[in-house]
Amino acid sequence: MMSTQGTLQNRYRIESVLGQGGMGTVYLAKDIRLDERLCVVKELRDDFYRDEDKQRALSFFDREARMLARLKHGSIVQVSDYFSEQGKYFLVMEYVEGENLHSIMQKREGEAFDEKQVVSWAIEICDVLSYLHAQDPPVIYRDLKPSNIMISSGGQLKLVDFGIARKIEADDENTRVVSAGYSPPEQYWGAANIQSDLYALGATMFFLLTGKDPEPLKINSPCEHNSEVSEYLDSVVQKCMAQETAQRYSSARELREALLYDDYEEEPDNPKGWFTRNVAAVIFIVAVALVFIGWEPIVNSFKSDPKPAKVNAPLGSSEKAVDDPTYSDPLLGGVAPQKGFALQVTDEASLTDLEARPKQK
Ligand SMILES: Nc1ncnc2c1ncn2[C@@H]1O[C@H](COP(=O)(O)OP(=O)(O)O)[C@@H](O)[C@H]1O
Ligand SMILES: [Mg+2]
Repeated sequence: MMSTQGTLQNRYRIESVLGQGGMGTVYLAKDIRLDERLCVVKELRDDFYRDEDKQRALSFFDREARMLARLKHGSIVQVSDYFSEQGKYFLVMEYVEGENLHSIMQKREGEAFDEKQVVSWAIEICDVLSYLHAQDPPVIYRDLKPSNIMISSGGQLKLVDFGIARKIEADDENTRVVSAGYSPPEQYWGAANIQSDLYALGATMFFLLTGKDPEPLKINSPCEHNSEVSEYLDSVVQKCMAQETAQRYSSARELREALLYDDYEEEPDNPKGWFTRNVAAVIFIVAVALVFIGWEPIVNSFKSDPKPAKVNAPLGSSEKAVDDPTYSDPLLGGVAPQKGFALQVTDEASLTDLEARPKQK
């Protein structure tokens, strides 16, 4: 492929190559009409031999690029211009200073991401997918995978790489593109639907949770590779990756709901854990108070200068939690318990701990 140099459209001065993928070359450029602002120019691969293919591709490109330029979402890289020059096609878009999730993972040498981080990114992706799927007609992203998801230096997630080139080539049987491991079975014969994007999101979650590419055309279980992943999230990923479309979540919104559901394995600061600890704390304080009142005369007979015992609320909660009826946990933001809340002490271990606790006075 011949590389592009110089200035395009009298406006975009090519500075360097940012990436070279299967679909074209991505350049960092300066918009000399807009204060030398950095932007990205993507040159799309162009290897059509027949003139009619080229013509069809051109009109397709036109339509698609216009559609892309209309999309506006904080998590979608903003396309600002498109043109063809010297028989090549170019897209101009916002420059995202950051890195894609595939190279971030490579840099951490395949170390899995924390479940919470993965869930939070997945929820952001669900929001973008809901936005795309709500367009008329729905826009199917089709190529969700770690290398197409960028995290900016400010921590903002952005989807790049809308598959214009892929669509241009859709008529050419030899170049149908699927991303092994990330594309669902139905995409292998060309019938992508909105749930195809959910499969790819499940596959992406698998990668982030395990550091491994998912196996193609198979339900993948993150738990099998990383025992730290909760069974709940494992089941979410598996449902996304169901081979039959009908077995997956029906929409990005439904998947988002599932991701928000607070049923992950207990971590020290999730609301369910908080609740368990605080109910346990109340039971403990009451028990200690009873014991203390009952035993005070005995205790006094051993101490010359009895001080009131300081009762420490156990397991990290503060005394304030008990004394102050207005106390609310900052993690909960003072709101009522959420879905998935259990009105019983489910954590046997914390009860056992409590019995040992009075010795610590
Ligand atoms: N707007 C952008 N800003 C910064 N980097 C980008 C941008 N678009 C793409 N890149 C980088 O270039 C890589 C390849 O771009 P992409 O559009 O995915 O091309 P390909 O079709 O070759 O996969 C991306 O993985 C990303 O790291
Ligand atoms: Mg890409």
